[in-house]
Amino acid sequence: MSNRRNQATPLVAGTGTIVHGDCTELLAQKSFPLVDLVHTSPPYNIDKPYQDYTDKLHLSDYLKFVSRVARLLSEKMRSGASLFWQTGYTQASPNSDEINPIDVLTFPLFKEHGLYLKDRIIWRYYGGMSFKSKFKNQHETILWYVKGDPENPTVQPYFNIDAVRETSREHDPRNNLLGRNPGNVWQVDRVAYGSIEQTSHIAVFPEEVTERIIRACSRPGDTVLDPFLGSGTVAKVAKSLGRSYLGIELSRGYYEESVRRLGYQQLGELDTVLSWLLKNFLLGSRRRASREDCRFYFRQLLRARPTNIEARLSEWCRAFTGVDDVPKKEKPKLWAMGDEFLKSISSPRTGHLGLLSNIAAAYLNNYKLAKWFNGLRIGLIAHGLQQEIEPVLKSDRKMESVLDRIVEGEPSSYESKHKGNVVLLKQGERRVKAGVARRRIKEAPSATEPVLF
Ligand SMILES: C[S@@+](CC[C@H](N)C(=O)[O-])C[C@H]1O[C@@H](n2cnc3c(N)ncnc32)[C@H](O)[C@@H]1O
Repeated sequence: MSNRRNQATPLVAGTGTIVHGDCTELLAQKSFPLVDLVHTSPPYNIDKPYQDYTDKLHLSDYLKFVSRVARLLSEKMRSGASLFWQTGYTQASPNSDEINPIDVLTFPLFKEHGLYLKDRIIWRYYGGMSFKSKFKNQHETILWYVKGDPENPTVQPYFNIDAVRETSREHDPRNNLLGRNPGNVWQVDRVAYGSIEQTSHIAVFPEEVTERIIRACSRPGDTVLDPFLGSGTVAKVAKSLGRSYLGIELSRGYYEESVRRLGYQQLGELDTVLSWLLKNFLLGSRRRASREDCRFYFRQLLRARPTNIEARLSEWCRAFTGVDDVPKKEKPKLWAMGDEFLKSISSPRTGHLGLLSNIAAAYLNNYKLAKWFNGLRIGLIAHGLQQEIEPVLKSDRKMESVLDRIVEGEPSSYESKHKGNVVLLKQGERRVKAGVARRRIKEAPSATEPVLF
């Protein structure tokens, strides 16, 4: 490794840190903190044209590299912590027809370092490279490893199935009210060219994949690590879900891009929803607003009269004590209410509906996985957020501090002007085009500060 790779620059944003550097060196630091969850996709050794990294090692060197990373990660994972290692296939030799399945080849390396395999998830996508001589490749594997504990052999990873339930196909009274258990084949579209998730990185994985992992396998406040951060997807999603994040990226350009991308993301679900409402209904049409305008808008939202369906759903959410208490015969009626609610918020007139509908629409727009949630779940989530938001909107003082938090929490989107009295929505591309990213790399100051955790 070159010396330049020893040098790293940290960015501390919200409760997270992302670092420009080499993960094999940074993870080896004694003071690197322990983490609760790792989700990562390393280079696959398939000669991808990354910036500052050659993705074409001899297979034996690649396996040594993976073994080293597995050991370092295992040392930094708490007992019972989960590691989701996303990987694919590599050619056995240049121009060869034979492939090496990386997950199979590397499996013993993880086991050797105290990480046992709990599940093997298939990420299935449409598209993919076409071949004339064989089938199109349309999947990747995500290996779920757990850090075992010899002193506590029964240690179990944290897993919250309720956080990731999918809407059931039928409203059968035997089904769970919150939805069905997801399986281990995930059908998720790849990041399409021109989509909002696209960056200059060549291997961005979809937010929906990491969202499911973070929701199911960590609690708010837990630390989520991606040692091969790329364009920052894991850190961005962890931030949006109120987790603490750590990310390491070797390439200066991708690191810079991650910094900017995280700057478009609020910390936690509540601020994510509030920021979306501001952007879409107030700043969307005028780009700048005084603090007074922002307060006025939020107060109007608070006063909007709920529709019949919102009022019924709110009442039910207030009375709801838990799925186990709902009699089977009640369920179809409740699901129908949830369906009606989802239909009402999908209309373009959401802005004119009450607070509950607006929160639900903001949530659905921000969280990719939420499209799998049934209407009752969305209603319950929106109701929970509404309970938190209402006291804020009723107090000028609290609203001021929330506005400060929103502006500071998303520096790529907002700016304060005129002694902080004006909130300005920054213009510009949310996506980073490849050419722009490359220009920025040339302009970026070189990193000089070594990071010590
Ligand atoms: C498959 S990509 C990850 C893409 C990422 N999941 C995303 O959504 O953008 C692997 C990344 O690892 C980076 N990388 C390679 N070796 C590294 C190392 N030793 N330390 C940190 N990052 C490294 C590469 O520059 C590349 O951006």
